[in-house]
Order: sequence, then structure tokens, then C-alpha cells
Amino acid sequence: MSAEPIRAGSEYDPTSWPAAVQNPGFVGDTGEFAGLTEADVRGTAFIGERPADGGHASVAGTLPYHTANKDPQAPIFHGPYEDRLEKILSRYPDRQAALLPALHLAHEIRGYLSPETQDEVAEKLQLPPAYVRGVATFYTMYNLAPVGKYLIQVCTNISCNLCGGDAVLEAFLKHTGTELGETSANGLWTVIEVECLGACGFPTAVQINEFYYENVRPESVPDVLARLT
Ligand code: FES
Repeated sequence: MSAEPIRAGSEYDPTSWPAAVQNPGFVGDTGEFAGLTEADVRGTAFIGERPADGGHASVAGTLPYHTANKDPQAPIFHGPYEDRLEKILSRYPDRQAALLPALHLAHEIRGYLSPETQDEVAEKLQLPPAYVRGVATFYTMYNLAPVGKYLIQVCTNISCNLCGGDAVLEAFLKHTGTELGETSANGLWTVIEVECLGACGFPTAVQINEFYYENVRPESVPDVLARLT
């Protein structure tokens, strides 16, 4: 194949294109947005914990802003979380339809869905345990085993892959001292690779717990980890 551009000097000639400029993304450490804090990017009103009862029923099924501290033994449908489940149930025609947000709620509190947790959800929603198992194990976004305090999900799908996603994944593994999918000895880190995170314009995209980091490069990784600890 010829290396000659289709029409020299035309819009199809890559040598005539302006230098690429990276979009800053949420990681906020590139270009004119260098040095932005998370509060600068998100606004101070956006940071913090939602009430455990989830606030208004319309948002009760969604995740809180930051839930790094999980307790695998925590009661999942008591106190404010009972209120939260009632709000979730009020939005659906029957209990079966509320299964996904109910599993999300249990996942949010405990960090993963053990078989026992799945059974508790089944009992609470009066659904067959096997049905709940089938749903919980179908979706890859539910953790079925414990993960670290910070679950680092590195996108290695096509856009991120073309822009160095594999190198970013390697950097996270190296700097956390973990193997893929394994949790570090200090319980802080679990690094996995994931399919497209829906941020293809900001490769490499990384999701850490509920936060997105975009335009992550291998050399950014120590800074990203330092922000978390
Ligand atoms: S390919 Fe990485 S976010 Fe879409």
C-alpha cells in the first residue's frame, strides 16, 4: 500500500492536520486544565455521600457518589436501607422488576454478591433463589467475590486499545503490585480489564469505584493512585 496521501495538502493528507490536542477528561491533569482538583472538576456540591436512604425515590436505585468503604457483613435491608428498598420498589410494577436495583443496593453496601447475599435478596423480594442467581451471575458489573477497596477497571477495548490501553493496564498492575484480577495484600487494589466504558473519546478510560478517569497514560498512573490514598 502506498504511503502517499490521497491528495497532498488536502483534508485527507495527515501531514496537513493540526497537532492532536488531548481532551482533559475527568482526570484533569492535561492541557490547559492541568492541576485541577476533583472539586474544581465536579463542583463542591457534587462531592460527598448521598443519604443511605437514597434521597428521593427517583434516584434511590442509583449508586451514591463514593462508596469505597464496604462491609461484607453489613445488614443490607435495615434502617435507612430498608427505606431505600421501599423507594426502589415503589417505582416498579412488581418485585421481580426491582431485582437489578435491589442487587445494586446489596452490592453497594457489601462490595460483592456472595451466594448468601443473593439468597437474602431472593428472600426479601420473594423470588426463587435460582432466578436471582441467574441474574446476578449474568451481569459482569456485579462482583461475585471480594475485591479491593479500590476496584480499578481499565478499558482495553478498541479505542482505548489503539491509544495504549494495554500499557495503562500494565502500569496499574506494576504500581499496585498485583496480578490481573487479584487483590493486593493490603486489600487496597484490584485491577481488571473491562469492555468499553462508553468514554471512547477520552482514551484510555479507567473507572475506579464510581469515578471515571480519562486520558490516562502509563505515566499518569502513580498520580492517579496517589489521589486515592
Ligand atoms: S473503547 Fe475505551 S471507553 Fe470505549
